[in-house]
Amino acid sequence: MRIGIGSDHGGFALKEEIKKLIEISGHEVFDYGTNNSESVDYPEYGKLVGEAVVSGKIDRGIVICGTGIGISISANKVKGIRCALCSDTYSARMSMEHNNANVLALGGRVLGIDLAKEIVSVWLNSKFEGGRHQRRIDKISEME
Ligand code: RB5
Repeated sequence: MRIGIGSDHGGFALKEEIKKLIEISGHEVFDYGTNNSESVDYPEYGKLVGEAVVSGKIDRGIVICGTGIGISISANKVKGIRCALCSDTYSARMSMEHNNANVLALGGRVLGIDLAKEIVSVWLNSKFEGGRHQRRIDKISEME
């Protein structure tokens, strides 16, 4: 898959680690910044990654800020984005199987690196189940 990733300064260090994981898992990584730990505004990166998913340039996105909250709220403002902020592997799996989350958000100041990697691996390897879940997602789309 083509995976886009973006973060603010609070998520920069974790972004660099997650990029390596995505590559060794056989996926293609597209880095939407930021490129260092200088202070930036997370909405810009949530928007960039969200728009890349909706336009079809990438298949899925990962966004990271300090808590994951601001950048997930931002990504979810892009029409067509279902961004799930996850801090555990069960939610990561469900976010794909039930919610078809096309963007995963992580908190770089909340999660340890090993847990964050596990969350990403589970999410990348999970598939949407469709069926009744599609009906619910259609209802979300109707609200946009
Ligand atoms: C930046 O200091 C911090 O507010 C940001 O990374 C994020 O946690 C916001 O939700």
